[in-house]
Amino acid sequence: MSKISAAITAVGGYVPDFVLTNKMLEDMVDTNDEWITTRTGIKERRILKEDGKGTSYLAIKAAQNLIDKSGINPKDIELVIVATATPDMKAASTSAYTATHIGATNAFSFDLEAACSSFLYGMSVAARYIESGKYKKVLLVGADKNSSMINYEDRATCIIFGDGGGAVLFEPNEEGFGLQDEFLRSDGSGREFLQATYGGSSYPSTPDAIKEHKHQVFQDGKTVFKNAVFNMADVAVKILDRNNLTTKDISWLVAHQANKRIIDATANRIELEEEKVMMNIERYGNTTSATLPLLLSDYESKLKKGDNLIFAAFGGGFTWGSIYLKWAYNS
Ligand code: UT7
Repeated sequence: MSKISAAITAVGGYVPDFVLTNKMLEDMVDTNDEWITTRTGIKERRILKEDGKGTSYLAIKAAQNLIDKSGINPKDIELVIVATATPDMKAASTSAYTATHIGATNAFSFDLEAACSSFLYGMSVAARYIESGKYKKVLLVGADKNSSMINYEDRATCIIFGDGGGAVLFEPNEEGFGLQDEFLRSDGSGREFLQATYGGSSYPSTPDAIKEHKHQVFQDGKTVFKNAVFNMADVAVKILDRNNLTTKDISWLVAHQANKRIIDATANRIELEEEKVMMNIERYGNTTSATLPLLLSDYESKLKKGDNLIFAAFGGGFTWGSIYLKWAYNS
């Protein structure tokens, strides 16, 4: 029998209806459309406004979109992984709620958290379950309701983040399509530069912490930026070299959408032309775990069987990495 690889065979995506534009942010904090556009590439982001709806709402909608498009029977799904940095609740698994609500009643499920690299790491985990031959249908969802942890008085963060969800189905492939290689890393000394300090187990939330917005995201943008530029480009180069790929072999760069300048720097480092760089940051901002699957969802119609995709991400922790995947179908 030939080697089993883990191929993406379906994608789905969802963003909430409410659009938070740069113009609207001008009325909320001391910023302007021109600064945000030139420094980040973002024009607008989507926000999930309804009370009581958390990340699972985005995950369910994205997964449902995949199910509707592909016609897959949710009862055939064996594992649901929800990659997220903003779980619905503590102590209750977001993935279990998601799996039940999409009708994946024969699946087990778990959440996976690695900040903005959650979905990338999730691809690695999903692939191992498929490659082992143990499971044949693994649903990987990346979803984040970032608005739940953003201080809308802090111009350093509120201009960047948005809410969204995306989903992919992994299935076995014996023709050589699917995940080919990965290069994943982390460095905990980066934690101080991007975190929500209170509300976790180290520092449970207190009224004072909430008053001072310490339960919401803080970032030293410059330091995160520098590390993201260096590391995303570095791992992209490593994965190309290791697989004897040159720029002309790459069909698409699928890079985490945190800042257009970071994506451009990664593309420049591997000398990739702009037309091969997937980009939707202008419409959604940084949706953390959802950026990569939302790109696949938006670009699905342009993808062709055999295309070589290079994924790259960088996030809090720090966490980062790159994955090389051969696309498995024409849509
Ligand atoms: O997903 C992984 C996590 N996040 C990231 O990867 C994000 C990484 N960082 C970034 O994308 C960028 O660092 C930011 C977009 C957050 C900031 O851009 P920057 O070019 O690094 O700006 P800066 O922090 O160096 O600030 C430059 C100037 C400062 O003014 P002065 O001191 O030069 O007078 C800031 O006070 O821009 C000012 N500034 C703003 N002005 C208007 C900072 N934020 C804003 C703003 N609007 N929203």
